[in-house]
Amino acid sequence: MTLPQVRARDWVAAAKTAQRRHRAEGAAVPPSPKARRQSAALYVHWPYCKKRCSYCNFNKYIPRGVEEAAFRSCLVTEARTLLQLSGVRRIESVFFGGGTPSLASPHTVAAVLEAVAQAAHLPSDAEVTLEANPTSSPGSRLAAFGKAGVNRLSIGLQSLDDTELQLLGRTHSASDALRTLAEARRLFPGRVSVDLMLGLPAQQVGSWLGQLQELLRHCDDHISLYQLTLERGTALFTQVQQGVLPAPDAELSAEMYQKGRAVLRKAGFRQYEVSNFARNGALSTHNWQYWQCGQYLGIGPGAHGRFLPQGARGHCREARIQTLEPDNWMKEVKLCGHGTRKRVPLSELDLLEEVLAMGLRTDVGITHQHWQQFEPQLTLWDVFGTSQEVKILLEQGFLLLDHRGLRCSWEGLAVLDSLLLSLLPQLQEAWQQKPTP
Ligand SMILES: C[S@@+](CC[C@H](N)C(=O)[O-])C[C@H]1O[C@@H](n2cnc3c(N)ncnc32)[C@H](O)[C@@H]1O
Ligand code: SF4
Repeated sequence: MTLPQVRARDWVAAAKTAQRRHRAEGAAVPPSPKARRQSAALYVHWPYCKKRCSYCNFNKYIPRGVEEAAFRSCLVTEARTLLQLSGVRRIESVFFGGGTPSLASPHTVAAVLEAVAQAAHLPSDAEVTLEANPTSSPGSRLAAFGKAGVNRLSIGLQSLDDTELQLLGRTHSASDALRTLAEARRLFPGRVSVDLMLGLPAQQVGSWLGQLQELLRHCDDHISLYQLTLERGTALFTQVQQGVLPAPDAELSAEMYQKGRAVLRKAGFRQYEVSNFARNGALSTHNWQYWQCGQYLGIGPGAHGRFLPQGARGHCREARIQTLEPDNWMKEVKLCGHGTRKRVPLSELDLLEEVLAMGLRTDVGITHQHWQQFEPQLTLWDVFGTSQEVKILLEQGFLLLDHRGLRCSWEGLAVLDSLLLSLLPQLQEAWQQKPTP
């Protein structure tokens, strides 16, 4: 379905004036199965960075120069192709991630949004997020992204300590981070998120909490706390392995997380997901789609997607991964219209496992209504209600199973991975015993 060019231009203008807050409270009325099949979120991967951070194993490249016009044209082509292959008619939210998408030109962001608005319905108040790295002169660039249609920023602040920022290999200082944050809040009031890392080598609980308190004096309504994962193949991993740096202390990290979430709760933030905190309803609706196992399309090198291909019968949703390396990805898009490298059909059980593992990451958990959309035959009570192991977790206060559904308690959310070790086998067992229709 191709609409006239003018409609897409209208979208950018309408979105600009409709930069009102889209409040997501989590438990909305579920849409019909057809509406669910025809709607999706869109992830756009910009794979380039200025410099390699010491801890990062994302799909990113440090290029001498970027052929941006060619790259942009491939993003547009791939968006059109995947919209067509999926039969998706409505894009609920768009997320430009990376890499460092704030290095892209605002024109690229606008071109992708315009292509989407031509091929599908993109509501004028759809959440459009851009990951932005702090810089020393953020102003005019951020404003240009706003004009291009971005209405939410996620800033990779990571730390407010210059020594830690150096250890992480970041290109910014703490004062750059605060300057970028202030400018972002001026331009996108109520719609700015920041990422803060914890559990760095040699990091102490008290000084990290000091950073969090300082951040609370400057931040907007959304904070993500990410505990450092030491990724094999990164410079930080090697430094720790060679004994140049101490290994992060798991107990200290757990203490930072527990104390950090308590501080944020006291400051009026709702912990709506394991790592995510929002106040005044400023949840990320895009990420919420992931945790609710909604469909999403992923475009750009190495992007992931999950959707039911057009014409597929039954519940055969696919996981799709695009080719990782940007030049190869571009060649494939030019040749076939998309750079999908891998398609993995998800069985009904695969999907249910995702519904369980992703849903429990949120404070709402899995409502009976939500579960029924994916599994109409077995209820949550059928699966978990008779298990001795689950009964113990309920009695210990880590889990709740009641008229609303299944969810973690405050204590449970902090140890979700270990809860899943009991819950996933329980689901698999119930699935095997399910009577065949
Ligand atoms: C897609 S990444 C990077 C976005 C952006 N390029 C930046 O660096 O700010 C998004 C977030 O993931 C977190 N992250 C990346 N690597 C991590 C790691 N190894 N351990 C924990 N958090 C990590 C960081 O907080 C980062 O802001
Ligand atoms: S952390 Fe962000 S800026 Fe640093 S290398 Fe990874 S994607 Fe690039």
